[in-house]
Amino acid sequence: MIYAVLNTKGGVSKTTTAVHLATMLAREGKTLLIDADPQQSAASWAVWRSEAGRDPSPTTICLSGKAVFDEGRKMAEDYASCVVDAGGRDSSGLRAALLLAQMAIIPIGASNLDAAAMTDLLEVVDLSKDYNPELNVHVLLTRIDPRTKDAGEMLEFLKSHSLKVLETRVCERVAYRRAIGEGAIVQELGKDPLATAEMEAFFTEITQ
Ligand SMILES: Nc1ncnc2c1ncn2[C@@H]1O[C@H](COP(=O)(O)OP(=O)(O)O)[C@@H](O)[C@H]1O
Ligand SMILES: [Mg+2]
Repeated sequence: MIYAVLNTKGGVSKTTTAVHLATMLAREGKTLLIDADPQQSAASWAVWRSEAGRDPSPTTICLSGKAVFDEGRKMAEDYASCVVDAGGRDSSGLRAALLLAQMAIIPIGASNLDAAAMTDLLEVVDLSKDYNPELNVHVLLTRIDPRTKDAGEMLEFLKSHSLKVLETRVCERVAYRRAIGEGAIVQELGKDPLATAEMEAFFTEITQ
């Protein structure tokens, strides 16, 4: 299965989601993580991870533009799973990721600004469905305030666009920031059971 984690907006937890997903998949089989964001945050995480000697790890490579589709498709054949971390703007790399993937996961915050920023992305996603009709699109609500867990307005917005929203909500938790900085995922640091439970629930939901 090839997953693309994408949004045209930055800071919505794309890389955090992609490295967690790829590492959880790597527990079950050979996994490829394609960093398609020019900022190469997933690749930095992979360097920190190998320096820390953590295992199992996804094999991480950087690709850009059309190569995300051409090279990504060839390389993914040798892996049980593949995850693409697709850049924070509408780019050829992001469009290529939408053609390559069977499942798109769109992490998104709960604010009105996040909703406003989605219009462009939804057009690109719709367009890609003409070429990749099998594409399964899911929205993941991220960085939710754990005190209020309020995502009501965003849910209404997503419903009005007939988007499938995952039941798992990922809250704003310092454990995520710490884990990325240590080349880890939250489960491996084991400091925040709530973050661990969120990631396991997310994984179960998308792989069941
Ligand atoms: N659920 C979360 N809770 C707290 N901090 C988070 C969470 N998700 C992401 N972050 C932090 O927010 C920043 C942006 O996240 P990142 O995954 O890099 O987003 P993107 O790839 O969409 O730009 C990073 O500093 C990251 O550690
Ligand atoms: Mg990123």
